[in-house]
Amino acid sequence: MKKARVAVFISGTGSNMLALIEAARTPDCPYEVVCVLSNKPDAPGLSHARALGVEAIAVDQTPFGKNREAHERAIHAELGIRNIAWIALAGYMRLLTPWFVGQWQGRLINIHPSLLPKYPGLDTHRRALEAGDTKTGCTVHHVVAEMDAGPIIDQARVPVLEDDTPEALAARVLEAEHALYPAALARAILTATR
Ligand code: GRF
Repeated sequence: MKKARVAVFISGTGSNMLALIEAARTPDCPYEVVCVLSNKPDAPGLSHARALGVEAIAVDQTPFGKNREAHERAIHAELGIRNIAWIALAGYMRLLTPWFVGQWQGRLINIHPSLLPKYPGLDTHRRALEAGDTKTGCTVHHVVAEMDAGPIIDQARVPVLEDDTPEALAARVLEAEHALYPAALARAILTATR
């Protein structure tokens, strides 16, 4: 089996990125994580990836100022050099331009810590608690130009417990994310190549 070449985009810790790298190392996984890319040169996840022997590069957004498309064209060039086929956003905290999404549509996926379409955007756990929800979860979806929208690939449900705090709930959801994301990426790739 020829494995799909994946780039994982991060801006921070990259715990989902680590889950994807680990899953990719099992023999029948349909993808390999070829590189990790961050818009922030100081993202802690970059050194975590390197420690696992995965190439990790920063394409700093700072020199591009407000020109997001120019930044993304530089990213796109890095992906081209590495022959990347799929992108998995994993805590990449920058909205992508319609140009970039258009280049990658169908091969660009994201994980979001809520049961979309509920709670797109930030602060999902606090919002779920304030609404009195008894369950929440996470969603892996294809990326479209609109934020946290796009066809859903899979979701995992997580109970909200009495006396939960946003932090406790975030930690429980993050564990579910680490199981969901590798499987959902595999499913998306297998579905697209069938
Ligand atoms: C996760 O909660 C993910 O759903 C969201 O950003 C967070 C990233 O966490 N998009 P990590 O960097 O993977 O630990």
